[in-house]
Amino acid sequence: MLDAGCGEGIYATLFAAIGFDVAGFDISPNCVEAAQHVAAANGFSERTRFSVQATEQLDYPDDCFDVVVGIDVLHHVEVATSVAELLRVLRPGGTALFREFVEVPAFDRVRDSSSQKASTRTTLNTPRKMKES
Ligand SMILES: C[S@@+](CC[C@H](N)C(=O)[O-])C[C@H]1O[C@@H](n2cnc3c(N)ncnc32)[C@H](O)[C@@H]1O
Repeated sequence: MLDAGCGEGIYATLFAAIGFDVAGFDISPNCVEAAQHVAAANGFSERTRFSVQATEQLDYPDDCFDVVVGIDVLHHVEVATSVAELLRVLRPGGTALFREFVEVPAFDRVRDSSSQKASTRTTLNTPRKMKES
């Protein structure tokens, strides 16, 4: 599977932990280095490979991934070009899954006059916060 805009590799490592072979890429060399470190520290170097790439122009061949995932990355990129590239590398019949922030504290406060309610909802929906509690 492909983790587009993998950041520090937290999700890529989680995907490896549940059995996927994961290719992750990010435009930031620092993120790629961090992702390699996170995967290695958790024992998943062999199931992960990371590279510096941009969603708008990928080095992978056509149809080479069963699953393509992008977590909180589409709002950073040129969407039409990036989605075309990500679909190019997805095999026919494969699965593409993109998640974007729809709840962040600033937006919640605009949407909802109850900041306490918004804060609670954000905490419940944020995996990293759930780990901490
Ligand atoms: C909000 S972070 C999400 C990181 C990771 N997916 C996660 O959820 O932990 C967005 C990431 O997209 C990367 N990014 C921004 N523009 C990009 C592009 N054009 N191609 C690839 N990655 C990009 C950033 O460097 C950053 O690591």
